[in-house]
Amino acid sequence: MYSLLRMVRLLMSNEENRNMNGNNNSGSEEARDSMVDESRYMIYCENLVKIYKTADIEVVALQGLDLTVEKGELMAIIGNSGSGKSTLLNMLGGLDRPSAGRLIVDGKDLLKMSDTELYKYKRETVGFVWQNNARNLIPYLTAYQNVELPMILAGKSHRRAHALELLDMVGLSHRKNNKLSQLSGGEQQRVAIAIALSNSPKLLLADEPTGAVDTKTASQILDLFRELNRAIGVTIVIVTHDRQLSRKVDRVVAIRDGRTSSEFVRKISYAEELANLEASGAGGAIGTMGEDSHVELAVLDRAGRLQIPKEYLDALNIKARGKVKVELEEDRIVLYPPDREETNSKAAVN
Ligand SMILES: Nc1ncnc2c1ncn2[C@@H]1O[C@H](COP(=O)(O)OP(=O)(O)OP(=O)(O)O)[C@@H](O)[C@H]1O
Ligand SMILES: [Mg+2]
Repeated sequence: MYSLLRMVRLLMSNEENRNMNGNNNSGSEEARDSMVDESRYMIYCENLVKIYKTADIEVVALQGLDLTVEKGELMAIIGNSGSGKSTLLNMLGGLDRPSAGRLIVDGKDLLKMSDTELYKYKRETVGFVWQNNARNLIPYLTAYQNVELPMILAGKSHRRAHALELLDMVGLSHRKNNKLSQLSGGEQQRVAIAIALSNSPKLLLADEPTGAVDTKTASQILDLFRELNRAIGVTIVIVTHDRQLSRKVDRVVAIRDGRTSSEFVRKISYAEELANLEASGAGGAIGTMGEDSHVELAVLDRAGRLQIPKEYLDALNIKARGKVKVELEEDRIVLYPPDREETNSKAAVN
């Protein structure tokens, strides 16, 4: 019997063969394929699959995930625990390899890279910030020494000036000579961000960077990401559980069961909203992510598959694995429970 991994690979290679055979029914799909300029994006991710194999079980952590991120964008990814957020970040950061699908970052095909190319990619293209900064910080060194250390290991020159510049960028110049153990959680996270920027990455990946700090500090860290994004143009992808924080970015992608399910796009950008608030003299906080500030878009994949938000299904008591009626109504597609008509006619008779 085929294992799940082998089956997925087989399906993907059949797909590739079909595309390579050219003059068959997939002609129009092929034409569409060639129209996608993958290198235009910082991240182009299509039908991405990741299967973890342990002793005797296989976990499909990413089940055909589609995502594009523009160059210079600052965006967030939300999703329940186990939905595949960290798995996706690890793939983007070259820490692990996808099982199948397409993943292009900054024009580089991560599925086709050799080990040496992947190593170079990790060193030159991406920076990582984790929730638990113990992973790359040393408590008995000062903030400055922590930032300088990876540069020493990488054999960089002009280290002192660069380390001081990075500490300044994250607003920590005044604490540079303090040992890590003397800094607050938020300050330690700033050191981690400075380190992540030390190789001047094009893409900064942050996995729950605010998971271990209080709400106010979390908000300040998000502001720092925005400032860095604006000041140096680095593309930033932040994974967060916190819907409150995701209001501070212009696009939030929700992942469910290893697939992108929907996107929340700001009606007016966060920067504009801030400017409006300042201009009107109204203090106070910007509202949470909701209907008034964001448009929710369901993600449609290339095969026309759509994930309907669970709340919508629950509201109409539609079972996720059941069937729905689909009707085309002038300018819209309407979905409703299969028994709806019957219910309506009964209602009409009564
Ligand atoms: N190294 C691994 N080996 C086996 N299974 C794994 C491995 N890493 C993750 N998984 C599984 O893959 C799925 C997705 O995990 P992932 O860590 O990406 O979720 P997440 O969305 O980051 O969750 P959380 O919000 O809890 O961090 C889970 O079912 C998890 O158990
Ligand atoms: Mg995670």
